[in-house]
Amino acid sequence: MNGGTPIAGESMSPLLPLVAVLFAVAIFVVDTFTPLGIAVAVLYMVVVLMAGRFLKRTGVLIVGIACLALTAMSYLLQHGETYGPEFVRFLVSLAAIGITTFLALRIQSTGALLREQASLLDITHDAMFVRDFNDTITFWNRGAEQLYGWPREEAVSKISHDLLRTVFPLPLQDIKATLIKDDRWEGELVHTRRDGVQVTVASRWSVQRDAGRPIAILETNNDVTERKVAEAKAEQAQADLARVSRVTTLGELTASIAHEVNQPLAAAVTNAETSLRWLGREPPELGEARIAIEHIIRDAHRASEVIQRIRNLAVYSDPERTPLDINEAIDETLHLLQSELQRQRVSLRLELAPKLPRILGDRVQLQQVVINLVMNGAEAMAKVDDRPRELRIGSHLHDHDQLLVDVQDVGVGIDAAHADRLFAAFVTSKQGGMGMGLPICKSIIEAHDGRLWATNNDDHGATFQFTLPVCRKGAH
Ligand SMILES: Nc1ncnc2c1ncn2[C@@H]1O[C@H](COP(=O)(O)OP(=O)(O)OP(=O)(O)O)[C@@H](O)[C@H]1O
Ligand SMILES: [Mg+2]
Repeated sequence: MNGGTPIAGESMSPLLPLVAVLFAVAIFVVDTFTPLGIAVAVLYMVVVLMAGRFLKRTGVLIVGIACLALTAMSYLLQHGETYGPEFVRFLVSLAAIGITTFLALRIQSTGALLREQASLLDITHDAMFVRDFNDTITFWNRGAEQLYGWPREEAVSKISHDLLRTVFPLPLQDIKATLIKDDRWEGELVHTRRDGVQVTVASRWSVQRDAGRPIAILETNNDVTERKVAEAKAEQAQADLARVSRVTTLGELTASIAHEVNQPLAAAVTNAETSLRWLGREPPELGEARIAIEHIIRDAHRASEVIQRIRNLAVYSDPERTPLDINEAIDETLHLLQSELQRQRVSLRLELAPKLPRILGDRVQLQQVVINLVMNGAEAMAKVDDRPRELRIGSHLHDHDQLLVDVQDVGVGIDAAHADRLFAAFVTSKQGGMGMGLPICKSIIEAHDGRLWATNNDDHGATFQFTLPVCRKGAH
């Protein structure tokens, strides 16, 4: 590929061989029969170069030798065996024809190599095209014809981004800046095919340089549309599964949550009775009644907050990323789990570091992780009777740009039989357990660019910890 010249399918006039033959005959006639006193035979160079356009290596070689022979024949016919200045002209002509033949053969082999490379580009299944720095297409392989639908003749000399209606993940200037700096760029693009259908491609660009000067860009595109659709479906399935699992967990917590809602409602009833009593006095104690009514309002708010939290966990649909305070998310979750933990006689020890930077995440998903880990911790301590069932939850800054949350119990510890498959789906040691809690936690944390792992404690129980990257924007 030599920036701009089509490397395959060069066109040639069908009259060229005839012209070459006539030209050779004309040179021979002039050289043999006209005493011009100049090296006319030098013009055979043109015949050799013409032959290079339509003959293969051997053909060019034969034409070269034939021209040498014709030159020698003319000399013998006109001058016989004399060795004057015309003999020097004869030698110059022979040298010129010889050198031209040699160069024509060199050009041929380079051309053949380029054609070979071009045909290699042509047979790959990837869609490939070459464009210059004005994005004008100069080469378009068969893969590109198949993927996009335009034949080579129609695509070449079009502006690639206009033809394909490219949607870039970044501004084009930024991509080109990276390309010039690194000589390559990789990313996902959306292209529109000739039939109007959009395709997502994994695109690799590399710069071709000539003596250090960038002259062309080779763009290789792989159609990943189906993979993207499958990924989106898998993501959706995972989100649905996570939601089902959340609702199941909420179902298991129904009794405790009912208690949580009942408490403020019972308090509200008590406060209502109290306020009635104050109002029934003679004269009515309006001040006291007002205080009791204020308590009713506070209790009602508490009850509605619990309901709101449950609704958030159950009704939630698409994951979304917002900057959030992980301690707030943990606190809110523990409110829901408080009664359940009390019922299981688990005491909570919170070691949440104050003023942590925010992380970018989905509140509901991260709360689900905390619920799963806390419930697992409590369940691991269910059979522990010889020591206090204490669950410690900590959060702190880790490695400057990560937050680390750890949930530590004093339960039975991780069973060695499950240790290496703990995060796989359907691995459970519990009767009625689904074995989906930890795999869901792991996929949520990894989708947040974090890491989740577990270790057994030195004495009792296990610690599950996860990291989340700190959100740079909006962190305070
Ligand atoms: N804190 C822990 N201590 C000891 N073992 C644990 C702990 N957490 C999880 N495990 C082990 O990992 C297994 C898988 O946990 P996971 O949360 O994925 O499923 P599960 O709790 O069994 O069921 P569910 O889908 O209802 O959560 C558990 O059955 C248990 O054997
Ligand atoms: Mg679990």
